Amino acid sequence: MNWKEEYRRKISTTEKAIKDIHDGDCVVLGHAAAVPKLVPKAMADHCEEYNDVLIFHMTTLGDNPLLHPRCYGHFRHVSNFLSGNSRDAVNHLEGDFFPAFFKDVPEMIGDEIPCDVAVFQSTPPNSEGYCSLGVSCDYAIAAIRRARVVIIETNEMMPFVGGDNMIHVSQIDHIIPCAYRLPELHSDAPSEVELAIGRHCASLVTDGTTLQLGIGAIPNAVLTELGDKNDLGIHSEMFSDGVAELMRRGIINGSRKTMHKGKVVASFIMGSRELYDFVDGNDAIELYPVDYTNDPIVIARQYRMVSINSCLEVDLMGQVASETIGMRQYSGIGGQIDFVRGASMAREGKSIIAMPSTAAGGTISRIKPFLSPGAAVSTTRNDINYLVTEYGIARLKGRTLQHRAEDLIRIAHPDFRPMLIEEYERRFKCTYQTG
Ligand code: COA
Repeated sequence: MNWKEEYRRKISTTEKAIKDIHDGDCVVLGHAAAVPKLVPKAMADHCEEYNDVLIFHMTTLGDNPLLHPRCYGHFRHVSNFLSGNSRDAVNHLEGDFFPAFFKDVPEMIGDEIPCDVAVFQSTPPNSEGYCSLGVSCDYAIAAIRRARVVIIETNEMMPFVGGDNMIHVSQIDHIIPCAYRLPELHSDAPSEVELAIGRHCASLVTDGTTLQLGIGAIPNAVLTELGDKNDLGIHSEMFSDGVAELMRRGIINGSRKTMHKGKVVASFIMGSRELYDFVDGNDAIELYPVDYTNDPIVIARQYRMVSINSCLEVDLMGQVASETIGMRQYSGIGGQIDFVRGASMAREGKSIIAMPSTAAGGTISRIKPFLSPGAAVSTTRNDINYLVTEYGIARLKGRTLQHRAEDLIRIAHPDFRPMLIEEYERRFKCTYQTG
């Protein structure tokens, strides 16, 4: 059958599409800024008709009606990355957290993560019947291949992004043509502390470096401090506004990348409307499934690969907690360890974890004698390379436990150094030498 005929035959409505979701099903939902809007709303409107439906999702930007309290008891959530709109539901046991490296999610879909129904967004089809998955590639293709029912909102306002980021009309069961704006993520202007951290990180970045930048305020601040560099490249999980700005200025051009020369490679894009306009039909940007972008072996093939990620706290041994505040699941590991390991294996590679020295308005030191009780270790003490705060850079790789403690105290907030020195002297049975 000609794809145009097939397209017409598959055009559906949300009301019709959700009739294919049954009690006990697991629905895998699109990610980040590409989270579908119409089908979740219809499911939430009809929540009383569903029992025991499991929803797998990661970050879902904007309002996710499936997480509203009125849906409690009808839908349960399983997620391996929490954000503002899902933390409460999951931490209040309307769902559960699923520890997993982001790179492993595509392979787990259909196995550890059941996938009866896939609900995603795409662009309308091109002249050959292919739809771009737009701003989120990550686990979409894996879910679409394995689901019993594939429901796609073909959104006219979804940017067309290339790479291994296409599905064909023949793979879809319900096509829901629509036009709505993608949810946006706007970052505040970086604070003085964040800019200081950005400057320290930038001092570790040389011309010709390929960068991965993680999620949160710090990676954004780093981008603002890279204005005097040349020929930077991007091989990352996420692509944000700051990257687009450096591409416009020619600082990021990918000319010295070992693989995908001249291209920015990522797995998803999240930011402002200007960013979505910038990436639309932009040949310099390619998205790939996350099991490719985040594969440490692929990452390690980039010469001068530098990963920059953030965390919540670090203990005096260099164990990094990036996803929990004590027992409370705050986010997830995402691609942090994939990039820490990949960058460490790369020729002239470096991995950087950067954080402000304090949290909660300066009342808590993020450098601690011990991680908070219940905290999960995201980057182990064996993996950590550079740790950066606004007070400087500590290179922990190859350092003994005693030297690590000394280096970390040096970059802790001065108000908390006496407490850390007390622990240091108790632990190592010697006087801490300042200066
Ligand atoms: N104890 C108590 N509260 C803490 C804390 C600590 N040790 N560390 C942070 N907090 C609080 C902050 O004060 C802030 O609270 P507020 O919102 O009330 O101001 C909140 O927790 C968030 O901290 P912040 O540092 O502002 O978070 P961020 O948005 O910059 O994100 C991470 C930082 C670590 C959560 C984020 O980078 C992450 O999830 N990393 C893991 C995943 C990853 O690195 N992926 C990489 C590939 S994309």
